[in-house]
Amino acid sequence: MIRITNLAKGFTDGNQSIDVLRDVSVEVPSGSSLAITGSSGSGKSTLLNVMAGIIESDSGEVELTAAGQKYNLHQLNESQRTKFRRQHIGYVHQFYNLIPTLTVLENVLLPAELNKRKDLFQHGARLLEDFGLADKFDKFPRILSGGEQQRVAVARALLLKPAVILADEPTGNLDQANTQLVADLLFAMAKDFKVSLVVATHSEDVAARAGHRLHLGEV
Ligand SMILES: Nc1ncnc2c1ncn2[C@@H]1O[C@H](COP(=O)(O)OP(=O)(O)OP(=O)(O)O)[C@@H](O)[C@H]1O
Ligand SMILES: [Mg+2]
Repeated sequence: MIRITNLAKGFTDGNQSIDVLRDVSVEVPSGSSLAITGSSGSGKSTLLNVMAGIIESDSGEVELTAAGQKYNLHQLNESQRTKFRRQHIGYVHQFYNLIPTLTVLENVLLPAELNKRKDLFQHGARLLEDFGLADKFDKFPRILSGGEQQRVAVARALLLKPAVILADEPTGNLDQANTQLVADLLFAMAKDFKVSLVVATHSEDVAARAGHRLHLGEV
């Protein structure tokens, strides 16, 4: 469960300051999904980063419930937020953020490694197979196509079946068949494992599959 209340976030760049998010309130219950849409620069990635506790908002509340416990991100310090994120959030970064020195399989298994969950190793391999990447286990990210890297990033975010999945344009680099495949898996996860799924997307097809929508416009 994610609950955002009256959130505001701006940036200062030199002597210029810009409001990116103003008075955003939204709720994503467990097992449901939210699509964030809006033009480039409207603040989709910024909002996902705030939800993940990667950046702090200027005001407002960010409350997440995971494994039966409620967390208010403002009440956690940075290392507590990092720990929380590692355990409970699957994040698909807009530009993938794969670790270049790890193989494809090692990248996918990283969340299991960090959480000492050796029982998930088979599951990681299975996810890669589901995404059509069975022959890429031992390859390094740099030799993969953009779309292949994107699918590795999605597999990594799904691995732990976390309480919250935040996916930043997870199909931005995929062809139609793979868009379908990735969207199917993301939305099935949300439903079957009671995940709160948030997808920032420019794809009308993907957005239409979400239970709720938030359109970010000019502030
Ligand atoms: N660290 C920062 N410092 C200054 N400005 C920033 C910073 N991060 C983001 N911005 C600005 O905030 C605005 C929103 O950026 P954001 O990345 O959230 O947009 P977006 O909706 O994800 O766009 P896209 O669809 O292109 O990914 C942009 O104008 C961007 O330049
Ligand atoms: Mg973005």
